Amino acid sequence: MARRITPTTPTKSTIAISTMLPADLIDRTALHVKTVLSGDNTGHDWWHVYRVWKIAHRIGHDEKADLLIVELAALLHDIADWKFHDGNLSVGPKMAKDWLDSVGLNPSTTEHVCQIIAGISFKGAGVEQPVLSLEGKVVQDADRLDAMGAIGIARAFAYGGAKGRDIYDPGVQPTEHRTAEAYLKSGGHTINHFYEKLLLLKDRMNTATGRAVAEERHQFMEDYLRRFYEEWDGDS
Ligand code: ADP
Ligand code: NI
Repeated sequence: MARRITPTTPTKSTIAISTMLPADLIDRTALHVKTVLSGDNTGHDWWHVYRVWKIAHRIGHDEKADLLIVELAALLHDIADWKFHDGNLSVGPKMAKDWLDSVGLNPSTTEHVCQIIAGISFKGAGVEQPVLSLEGKVVQDADRLDAMGAIGIARAFAYGGAKGRDIYDPGVQPTEHRTAEAYLKSGGHTINHFYEKLLLLKDRMNTATGRAVAEERHQFMEDYLRRFYEEWDGDS
């Protein structure tokens, strides 16, 4: 990804942390997140964050969003996922705030980044979503896109495998989860997850750029499912 700001002032070691250049701040944040997330095998690994970061930058650029906020929020959005802290939604924003305070980012930018992190996670098809800023919309689109297409399929089966779920059971139908608790508890096979989340994402995109990418990824998943059922019944 092209950097927007080329360092022209002294190197990292000689500048005060509170005046850190945006590019340095982003690099340090990336390293921090990579360290914290190392070892995750549930689909929230560093490489998920990396992909969200990259596509968030692309969408943010096209949508003329504040890219510093977009990149920081994308990097920190899964620092402590709510599903792995007994549904405690405040852990992620708190960890993000601690980090951004420690590197001396100004309070209003920190506040904006933390609000995005608190607001973007998917909590079930029937659960109401908070209003997001443009930057929040961009990061949410980027996060949702990583649950779609070829990568999204890989992540779904990786997640299902980590939870010991079947890949498919024709007798178990998908359900629309009206609460975050119901979504968390659902124990169905992984193909159901396509109907409970992945195929719904296309119509929930916030930005025109995100929608265009989502259309393609959605089509890929539809093609994949068609083929999956054919193979299941020995038809291909
Ligand atoms: P995000 O990182 O977008 O917040 P989630 O935390 O909802 O995504 O889920 C992480 C990944 O695991 C996503 O790719 C998602 O589709 C997948 N996943 C979540 N729940 C399930 C499930 N019940 N079955 C299969 N995959 C799932
Ligand atoms: Ni994510």
